Amino acid sequence: MGKPEINVGLLGWGTVGTGVSKILINQKHQIYQNTGLNLNLLKVAKRTLPAQRTGVDLANNCLTTDVNTIVDNPDIDIVVELIGGIANSRELISRAIRNGKSIVTANKALIAECGADLYQLAQKQGVSLNFEASTAGGIPIIKTLRESFAGNKVESIYGIVNGTCNYILTEMQKNGRNFSEALKMAQERGYAEADPTLDIDGTDAAQKLTILVALAHHIKVPLNQVHTEGITKITQNDIQYAQELGYTVKLLAITKSRGTKIDVRVHPTLIPNDSMLANVSDAFNAVCVVGNAVGPTLFYGQGAGEMPTASAVVADIIDAARSINGNSHVPIPPAWASKPHSDFSIGLIDDIETRYYLKLVVQDCPGVLAQIGTILGNQDISISSVIQKEPHCKNSVSLIILTHKACEANMCQARIEIDNLEVVQEKLTLIRIEEFDF
Ligand SMILES: NC(=O)c1ccc[n+]([C@@H]2O[C@H](COP(=O)([O-])OP(=O)(O)OC[C@H]3O[C@@H](n4cnc5c(N)ncnc54)[C@H](OP(=O)(O)O)[C@@H]3O)[C@@H](O)[C@H]2O)c1
Repeated sequence: MGKPEINVGLLGWGTVGTGVSKILINQKHQIYQNTGLNLNLLKVAKRTLPAQRTGVDLANNCLTTDVNTIVDNPDIDIVVELIGGIANSRELISRAIRNGKSIVTANKALIAECGADLYQLAQKQGVSLNFEASTAGGIPIIKTLRESFAGNKVESIYGIVNGTCNYILTEMQKNGRNFSEALKMAQERGYAEADPTLDIDGTDAAQKLTILVALAHHIKVPLNQVHTEGITKITQNDIQYAQELGYTVKLLAITKSRGTKIDVRVHPTLIPNDSMLANVSDAFNAVCVVGNAVGPTLFYGQGAGEMPTASAVVADIIDAARSINGNSHVPIPPAWASKPHSDFSIGLIDDIETRYYLKLVVQDCPGVLAQIGTILGNQDISISSVIQKEPHCKNSVSLIILTHKACEANMCQARIEIDNLEVVQEKLTLIRIEEFDF
């Protein structure tokens, strides 16, 4: 017989916290009908008061500025951390775990950095730690990987997991905007933060990828071992040339197994226009997981925003409440166990083999292509197509080269040699290509 009522405390009543309070209060009956659980939002903490939110009324005395009345409150069963940041959240969550509370968080930065430590502490205390909303917002990819893929070996994951970058790239492609215009629009629409660095430099996607890899490949990957490139160098020309060649540029978070190695990388990628991921537009997210038994699967939805993210948080609260009542917890992900075991180690980016899009701005004179072709040939890189664009200023032309599959280390060497050619006027732009075989 479970507890008749499970008490929940929210740390943070910002965008996501507000959405969570709306669902817990306004859809209390729906949750009861669906699960038999009686969830009671007992306390909500924020930094400053007074505060009101349209669309939800909290009970009297529910709001507080004192986080201790949640973390140390013996009546609270589940603490939901929606503050963000690392140091303070980590301290609050650790204390709540020691106080025997189950934890739900949407904090990818925290889970990417401290997931293992927090999990081990939660396991020691016999409480659960759920983090569905930390990766791809409203898309239930964490639970899917942990439960629905338990009978599969995950072969690869390709994720569009940063809505800001996807919105910017979509605007550049569909409406011909340049990068700065598209970024400004993303900020005006609330998709990008005032300081968008962590989105556009790929860090946010890399943090989410480390979480996916921990679950899919049972290996803890430090953030600095994820090969990470953002989208700041992508130009309108790159987007157009890629389109002409039948490709769309997306920021992909990729993990693939190669024997006992796994690739873990985030970078702009050319993908075929007719692939499903190429048609994931605006701020939407999508995660394609390829399992050895199930084959390719695709999960699509809103990766951020008040209600989609709150939906994932509430699903975690329900899981935590079920654990409290049934006294069973989803086991610790092996990557985060105190003695982790994985069949994989992290592969070097230099060892990957992929196709490449190369854009060069060169002098418009005879013999240039031969010089470039020789460098590529010496590195075992064969060209699959070349396009020369009309001179965009006197004496200079753009060359767009697509290669067949080649080794990254060879491409790096070729890049150095090409950039050193006298006829080359701008540093080479290189974007990797993924051709999906599904
Ligand atoms: N927004 C999204 O779409 C989204 C999507 C996925 C994951 N997430 C994650 O969800 C978490 C919350 O994001 P958010 O967008 O909801 O943030 P937010 O709108 O900035 O809200 C943060 C809330 O935390 C409160 N807070 C901050 N420091 C506090 C402290 N020391 N003590 C008590 N309260 C404190 C703030 O109080 P005041 O209101 O008084 O300032 C505010 O209510 C983050 O980890 C974020 O990465 C967000």
